[in-house]
Amino acid sequence: MEDMKDIQWFPGHMAKTRRMIAKSLPLVDAVAELLDARLPLSSRNPEFNRLTGKKPRLVILNKADMADPDITNQWMQFYKKKGYAVITADSKNGKGVKQFAPALRELLKEQLQRYADKGMKGRPIRVMILGIPNVGKSSLINRLAGGKRAKAEDRAGVTRTQQWIKTTDSVELLDTPGVLWPKLDDQEVAVRLAMTGAIRDDILDKEALAARLLKLLHQEYPQAIAERYKISPEQEGEGFELLEQMAKNRGMLLSGGVPNTERAAITLLDEFRGTKLGRISLEKP
Ligand code: G4P
Repeated sequence: MEDMKDIQWFPGHMAKTRRMIAKSLPLVDAVAELLDARLPLSSRNPEFNRLTGKKPRLVILNKADMADPDITNQWMQFYKKKGYAVITADSKNGKGVKQFAPALRELLKEQLQRYADKGMKGRPIRVMILGIPNVGKSSLINRLAGGKRAKAEDRAGVTRTQQWIKTTDSVELLDTPGVLWPKLDDQEVAVRLAMTGAIRDDILDKEALAARLLKLLHQEYPQAIAERYKISPEQEGEGFELLEQMAKNRGMLLSGGVPNTERAAITLLDEFRGTKLGRISLEKP
């Protein structure tokens, strides 16, 4: 499974996704853009607007269970102002997923009314789900399909390999979610994605990555860092010094009492990703 995910990062697959989107766009009523609620900017594809044009959009702030609820609310307002429908979800556990169909119906209200006026009342809403790797596309689709993932019938105008997944709410999903690219050539973006574990964290050494994360958390979530690692909010110093402090406070020492910053780095990244530090967002609107 891990290998497959790595393969999806090949630029060649991006070209394939672009073609898939261009071909499928006329077949869907809306696009669902899946973002990581903890970092909606870094987890988005920079070409998304260009690729999906004026298609009505539902933004799903996924992994909301791990994100700071106040900041997630700010993001919701931010995307609503842009004219998108927005929901939050925890696709792993299914929380919020039931808002998917109602949000789409609201977004497409006028279009659905036009269909109804033409007597096409039971017509399902068709949606394409797009997002970067690991953002939760498969989890969401499994939740929406109610575990069945029964393939819907072929339809005229759709290639044989492209099929629709039915959900219980008369919404149909394209069976292959679109895998898009984040803006990986932006170092800041790559670093934040690596912090969450969305991309392999060997783009930076673990200690450098953890030092940056610890500095950021110490600034934005001082209470969490004080509670878990006994680093005072008043403590000054760069990330690496904080990491040394954390190692000392946790008794992670090498011979001669040298702080084991490598172990502290691994611990910090694991505990952050495992929400041991609480619900944390890395980006604000
Ligand atoms: P993808 O298709 O977009 O690549 O993503 P996928 O659904 O495979 O999800 C990637 C990882 O993120 C999975 O964890 C999945 O369980 C987790 N995930 C997806 N949505 C949510 C969410 O809303 N909240 C939380 N907390 N996690 C979510 P994994 O570690 O790869 O697998 P597993 O440990 O869950 O088995």
